[in-house]
Amino acid sequence: MATRSRESKNVPLKELEAGIQQAEASGTVAPEIIQKLSSARDMFHRRDEFTAQACCDHSTTCEKIEEETYTRDWKADFDQGKAPVEFGARYLCGKEVGQFLKSMVSIQRAKRILEIGLFTGYSALCMAEALPDDGELVSLEICEHLKNLAEDLMKESHHTKKIKIILGPAIESVKKMVESKEKFDMIFLDGDKADYIPLVKMIFEMDLLSAGGTLLIDNAYHMGGAFDPSLNRPIPHQLRDCIKALPNVHAILLSMSDGIWMVRRMEDVERDTI
Ligand SMILES: C[S@@+](CC[C@H](N)C(=O)[O-])C[C@H]1O[C@@H](n2cnc3c(N)ncnc32)[C@H](O)[C@@H]1O
Repeated sequence: MATRSRESKNVPLKELEAGIQQAEASGTVAPEIIQKLSSARDMFHRRDEFTAQACCDHSTTCEKIEEETYTRDWKADFDQGKAPVEFGARYLCGKEVGQFLKSMVSIQRAKRILEIGLFTGYSALCMAEALPDDGELVSLEICEHLKNLAEDLMKESHHTKKIKIILGPAIESVKKMVESKEKFDMIFLDGDKADYIPLVKMIFEMDLLSAGGTLLIDNAYHMGGAFDPSLNRPIPHQLRDCIKALPNVHAILLSMSDGIWMVRRMEDVERDTI
């Protein structure tokens, strides 16, 4: 299957590329320095290529969803009032993350998954492919146009029957799930970043995860906001502080793509050795 050139979420690499261009244009930087910087840039690219080639490929339907997400006229959707913002391929979690999520579903032996943020259905389908036949993935999406688009794109896969989409603001849907005492073996948080902190608190304080369950949160680095002070983005720092302050929780941040938090109850991770 062809590997398309994907949207890079490597913000430091983009900064390095811009710096090299400036150095070359200035004519005042020694060629040996530009060569060293270019060598570092090329190594980053080859590292990304190596990683992409090492990962299992996605399914034919996921390939189609990715293709449509890259080629769609998102500006037209926005201009026609179908979408609240101008979406684009940068909203996709990406192939490596998709396959990581799929692996996690199988490691977790998950039967019920909650996804917050459906978009074009790519990550939902990656995860559903690893669910058993009687498994269920509930995906929350606020935009009706995206719900219809994702349903249309996913329909060719027989795994789609495991996917239920709930339209509406995620916080409202999660509140209802808490009230009806629903449980999920895995939760993938990939919606509006401003909702992350209240959702993380609800998930752990209201016990939305089943025993042994795992919360995964995408965009931990917030496209550079976590480490580029010039962007002045408090959310990734506030989220880190919120997760660190949760009692009896084990958290790690995987530096894959735009950063993925993996958060579990401490009792499911640390063995009592007494
Ligand atoms: C980053 S995209 C999700 C990408 C998707 N998980 C994937 O990788 O294929 C975020 C999605 O969350 C949706 N969203 C934004 N705010 C929301 C809210 N308050 N409630 C539910 N969904 C929301 C957006 O419409 C968008 O489709």
